[in-house]
This record gives sequence, C-alpha cells and structure tokens, in this order.
Amino acid sequence: MKHASVRLVAGVAGTLALVASLAVATAGTAGNQAQHAAKYPAPKVPGAAAIKAKYGGESITFIGDSVGGSHARDLALAKQFTKDTGIKVKVVPHPAASDASYSQLARVFSSKSSSFDVAMIDVVWPGAFAPYLVDLKPKLGKAAKQHAQGIVQNDTVDGKLVAMPWFGDFGILYYRTDLLRKYGYTAPPKTWTQLFAMAKKIQDGEQAANDKFYGFVFQGNSYEGLTCDALEWYESAGAGGFIDNGKVTIDNPKGARILDQFRAQIGKITPRDVTTYQEGEAHTAFVEGNAAFMRNWPYAYSIGQDPKSSKIVGKFSVTVLPHASGKSVGTVGGWQLAVNRFSKHVDASIEFVRYMTSAPVQKFNAITNTNVPTIPAVARDKAVVKANPYLKPEIASVMRVTRPANSLKAHYNEGSKAIYQGINQILNGRPASSVLPSIESKLERILR
Ligand code: GLC
Repeated sequence: MKHASVRLVAGVAGTLALVASLAVATAGTAGNQAQHAAKYPAPKVPGAAAIKAKYGGESITFIGDSVGGSHARDLALAKQFTKDTGIKVKVVPHPAASDASYSQLARVFSSKSSSFDVAMIDVVWPGAFAPYLVDLKPKLGKAAKQHAQGIVQNDTVDGKLVAMPWFGDFGILYYRTDLLRKYGYTAPPKTWTQLFAMAKKIQDGEQAANDKFYGFVFQGNSYEGLTCDALEWYESAGAGGFIDNGKVTIDNPKGARILDQFRAQIGKITPRDVTTYQEGEAHTAFVEGNAAFMRNWPYAYSIGQDPKSSKIVGKFSVTVLPHASGKSVGTVGGWQLAVNRFSKHVDASIEFVRYMTSAPVQKFNAITNTNVPTIPAVARDKAVVKANPYLKPEIASVMRVTRPANSLKAHYNEGSKAIYQGINQILNGRPASSVLPSIESKLERILR
C-alpha cells in the first residue's frame, strides 16, 4: 500500500506536467476570454435519449464549486444536462475552504446519508473517502482512459475507481505587466527576494494614489490553501516537502528561514490581513487593481480577463512562481467528481459524472473558466491553449510538488491542519523556530 501511494503521487505530478507540455506546441497568447466565454455554450449531452428513457425524472444533488465563476459554470452545465436527459440536478456550492468542504462531506458520509449524490473531491482526498464512494470503473473505466493516467491512478484506491478527474490545478504567479513597465522592470521576478523588492517599489509608488494598493497577495488564511502556498515556499527554498519519504521534515533551518522571510513581509508589502485571505480575497484584490503580484491557481485568469469583474483586462500576465535557493515549483491541486455510496440515484449520478468529465465539457471549462484540463487531447486543443496561457512551455514545465496526502492517508486533513495552523501563527508574528517543533511533533504523532 505504502509503495503504491508513493508511486501515485509521482504519477500525478508527472502526468500533470505531461498534460500541460502536450499543449505547448501550439501555445499562443491569450485573447479576450470574457467575450469568448459569453459566446461559448454548454455542450449537449451525448446519447441523451437513452439516458432519459432510463433515468429521466430522477433528481440528484451535486455538491459543486464556489470560487470565482465556477458556480455559474456548474449551473450552466447542470441546466444543459437536465434539459437533455430529464434528470434534475440541484447544485449546492461547497464551502470555499477545501478543508471545510472536507469536514462537510465527512459528516455526511459518517451518518451514511443520501443527502447528496455527486460531490467534487479534492486531489488529496481519494484515500480518505474511498470507503464511501461508488466504484465507477464498471461504467466509466473506458472514459477514464482518455484522462491523464497519473490522476486516474490517484483516483484509484485498492483497484476501485472512486472518482473521475474533473480539473487539474497548479500554483502560478500573476503579475501586472503595465506596472512592471511603469516602474522600469523588464521581466517578472525570478526569486522571492526580487519579488519582495519589486512589490515594495511598486507599492510605494501606487499607494500615493490608491491606499488600498499592496505589492503582493496570496493565500495566508489558516486553511488548506496555506498548506499549498507554504509547500511552494518550502520546495522552492530546498526545504523539502514537510514529510519526505515517510519522515517528518518540516522543522528544518531552510524552512524556518523562508517562513521568517514571509513573516517579515506581512503588512509591509502585503495587506496586514493577508493572513485571512483565501483564493477569493486574493483574486478580488488583484482584479480590482489593488495588487502588483498574486499567487493563485489558473481559474483566476478568466476572472482577470472578464471586463464584468476586472479592472485589469489586458494588463496582467502569468508565469512560474519565484524561488529561493531551490527551483521554482507549483503545488499540484485539482478536483475529481465522485458518487456517494449511500445515494439512491447511483446510475443517474454516474451519467452526470460521465457528462461533466467528458472532453467537450473540459473544453468548455477551460475556455470559460480557465480550469486545467485533465484530458491531454483537450489540453492540446488550439482554442484551449489560446485561452489558458499557463499552458505555455515555460510555465507548464514547472516542477509540480504534491502535498503529503499519501503519507498521511486518511489523516491528511488533520495533518494539513497542523501545518496551516502553525504557519498561520508564524505569519501572524511568531518566529518560525518557536512554532515548527510543535508542528513537527503533531505530524509525527499522526504518522505513528
Ligand atoms: C484549489 C486546489 C485544491 C486545493 C485548494 C486549496 O482548489 O485545486 O487542490 O486544496 O485550492 O485552497
């Protein structure tokens, strides 16, 4: 089991890199995606008549997305599915923080409730939730073959396909091209130290006219997103991945140094309350023109390019995250669709998952919502590449790093909580050396 898990982690990272690099041959510059999105209709359901004949009239509940434009995306797709198949879909957005969403699902599963049928599950959860999920292999095994195999393996637990890949994710740096030019910079920062200095200079200049302006925003709240961001700081500083080869390594000098460096920036080049920011607060600051740099996932690109929500259309770009003494990296994220084992509508739910994870829907998601496709053929599609500039070779080839889900297994959420709570305390002012030992011992206790 342990060996298998380690292999799966490597598989996800490797395959995501592959999916992205497959698209690079035709990578171009981003067009105006907002206009494109408005014109792009939700795809029709293939074979709808047969589905309708069997399951039409059934009702299912889908626990879907909530960040950015994703709830609107879910509603548009659910509406199309209902129109074509007669299966009603109630879309309920999950809590914005992944860990809160985990707790919500865990409660439902532990009471064997059928209150939902289909849910989005985070890339770090298949191991923990496998016992509560339907094996999709008999019906969707063939469809799964078109997806990146590393992700399919990550969704396969003890031979059962417990979820279907929905979209991928990796951390990237967003920057204001107009402001870099204005302050005399010809390229985005390569190191964190450069980013801090550039953010300071731009902030000093811009704050004169806009007191809401800050240099850098990221996910500093005490929640799952901070585990993702901090993993990037660690790996890019050569400080390891919190748990390496089954051994807890989080308390180390390089890790302490990079955390203290970030702590020193809080309230200086970041808003003071960046320690309460999740993805949404970060992208709001950025698209409203109140930040020079942002760490976020690819979905935020579509929001920045949408004139309805953004004041910076055409004024920003994306690249790999900076590094310290290590290399640039991006944390692997992403979501799967799974069916509740206690559902009373398993077959209708599986048809919904089949549609939602199909190639035409992935193309729709990538173009309207800049979600990372998990189907390599979709990631190579010209229109997709045009809408998703993070698929360019120099960004897509970045090293992907994975959270320690396969070491922590069913205790991942608990372990990540120890990590993000501790790191949030550091960002809020405590020296890293006074907090890291207790995170380390908590993780050791969980692993024992
Ligand atoms: C994104 C990622 C997910 C991660 C979350 C953290 O949604 O796809 O994997 O857990 O962000 O905030």
